[in-house]
Amino acid sequence: EALDVMVVGSCMTDLVSQAPRLPKAGETIHGHKFFIGFGGKGANQCIQAARLGAKTAMVCKVGKDFFGDNYIQNFKDNGVNTDFVGQTSDAATGAASIIVNSAGENAIVIVAGANMLLGSEELQNALPAIKQAKVLVCQLEISPQTSLLALQMAQENKVKTIFNPAPAIPDLDAAFYRASDVFCCNESEAELLTGSSVVNVEDAHRAGRELLKRGCRSVVITLGPQGCVVLEAEESASKHVPTTAVTAVDTTGAGDSFTGALAFYMAHYPTMPLEEMARRANRVAGVSVQAVGTQASYPLRKDLPAELL
Ligand code: RIB
Ligand code: NA
Repeated sequence: EALDVMVVGSCMTDLVSQAPRLPKAGETIHGHKFFIGFGGKGANQCIQAARLGAKTAMVCKVGKDFFGDNYIQNFKDNGVNTDFVGQTSDAATGAASIIVNSAGENAIVIVAGANMLLGSEELQNALPAIKQAKVLVCQLEISPQTSLLALQMAQENKVKTIFNPAPAIPDLDAAFYRASDVFCCNESEAELLTGSSVVNVEDAHRAGRELLKRGCRSVVITLGPQGCVVLEAEESASKHVPTTAVTAVDTTGAGDSFTGALAFYMAHYPTMPLEEMARRANRVAGVSVQAVGTQASYPLRKDLPAELL
């Protein structure tokens, strides 16, 4: 059965501490809450797409350990196909240490572990499924060569690609741009990739034009409460898509909620204007920031108004 969305990417166990603020170097501070959750940008995006109703599969690698076993169960609980989820005894399941402050902002350290062992062999095994998918999504928490190869395999088979260059690397291989139908990043990633500051909508328009020149079909730059900007190669205008204000309690994984939602809309409404998909994805991500946790805060289809589905 053909898939809507395939994600080739990371799984991380999120170890989250809530504290009044982020600690400084060498400092110990008291937090008030600790919890463990399912995270990793790839899996987050896949879970959000699945919760909106997309038929999804994850191509990833976890460790042969407690966290890895739990993660596979999490995919099953969310209806994600696990045929291409590998388990290795050569590395531990990826982990993310996350601190969230009272403003809902975070600082994250990831130890990718097993994620880095996902390679071309696993992609070859998944190729028959990739060929039939509508949309393929990649990020940068696995080996960059694996991400690039996955995007290229999809592109060769006329599967739409979304690339989320997160966490960003300054000297991103130019081939990533050419392999992206939608190049979707946030303001800080856009800043790192273009080398010029991106703090407002005007900056984002400028950065977007620069990224578009590098060869992607379209660019979306998310700006948190300021919404996002959307640029397409065929259209000269760069569009600002504002969003409705919400009170953020935890913004961790909001960008992944956005990207996963975008993948769902691209698969379900291939002719919908990208601007409209981005407007809806903003609203979905807006729901996620109003609850604590990463995947734990992602809305299900049944929790959303019909106009977003
Ligand atoms: O984008 C949020 C994610 O980044 C977290 O879930 C954490 O696992 C890190 O990968
Ligand atoms: Na959240």
